[in-house]
Amino acid sequence: MSGPQTIEDIESRLRERRYIGDRSLATSIFLALKLQKPLFIEGEAGVGKTEAAKVMAEVLGARLIRLQCYEGIDLAHAVYEWNYPRQLLHIRLMGEGTNKTDRLVAEREIFSSEFLLRRPLLDAIDNDDATPPVLLIDEIDRSDEEFEAFLLELLSDFQVSIPEIGTIKARQVPFVVITSNRTREVHDALKRRCLYHWIDYPDLDKEVEIVRARAPEAADGLAREVAALVQGLRGMDLYKVPGVAETLDWARSLAALGATRIDANLVSATMGAALKYQEDLERVREQVPALVEKAQRA
Ligand SMILES: Nc1ncnc2c1ncn2[C@@H]1O[C@H](COP(=O)(O)OP(=O)(O)O)[C@@H](O)[C@H]1O
Ligand SMILES: [Mg+2]
Repeated sequence: MSGPQTIEDIESRLRERRYIGDRSLATSIFLALKLQKPLFIEGEAGVGKTEAAKVMAEVLGARLIRLQCYEGIDLAHAVYEWNYPRQLLHIRLMGEGTNKTDRLVAEREIFSSEFLLRRPLLDAIDNDDATPPVLLIDEIDRSDEEFEAFLLELLSDFQVSIPEIGTIKARQVPFVVITSNRTREVHDALKRRCLYHWIDYPDLDKEVEIVRARAPEAADGLAREVAALVQGLRGMDLYKVPGVAETLDWARSLAALGATRIDANLVSATMGAALKYQEDLERVREQVPALVEKAQRA
């Protein structure tokens, strides 16, 4: 499959895969591809950042390589690691009493690529894919600054150096998508390497469209009312505001109960699909009738 040629093309191909992106996202993707720059996508949890990268890989017909970041992530989990048990086994199988030359050969063998555990970043750099892969570095805000500094270096020269083997340079640059939920600010230096795109919570019409695309089992009226309900919740002072994932769960839950419209009882009984903190449930509970009424008018 040939890659998308225009911004409109990207937007419609995302939609074909049930991802409702807007023109500005399609523009950012287009430019990132064109300029071969990483795309840095920031936004609250559940606004569709990870999904955007996954769908992009499909659109490009490329392999998705995903690195999920977490606190304490290190190079052994992100780049490569030696397969220690296999190395040991290999040495054992060589047997006792081998001479010095054999030992030197064995040593060279066990530090060859055969004994390398390739983690996502090495995998993305050392690829021979027909189409360059999409490298998703997900939730970078969870990693620490040391890891960020390493990434900065990696993204500037797309090479990895392994002391025992040498330097491996990308023969083709992957399409890099970095996401952040903004639990902390990511360093300017890293952002400077990238094109930046902020994904906001969708407005009502867009969220209705997303529900229709992703939870088609929800009747049209239900889709709209649930989306409007969540829009209402987002205006409240909550500990954790629901994202699009929660809207979808809620619509699916109500559809599973056979509902085609919302009412106060149904909403009260199923609120746990959207609100995951007791304090938030309490805060919303007394306002349910008003919220439902407002959602039905939207
Ligand atoms: N614009 C969108 N179009 C289609 N589905 C979406 C959209 N935005 C969010 N979703 C859905 O919402 C859920 C959460 O999205 P996700 O990408 O995991 O959020 P994030 O990575 O921003 O936390 C997924 O099931 C995704 O399919
Ligand atoms: Mg995500």
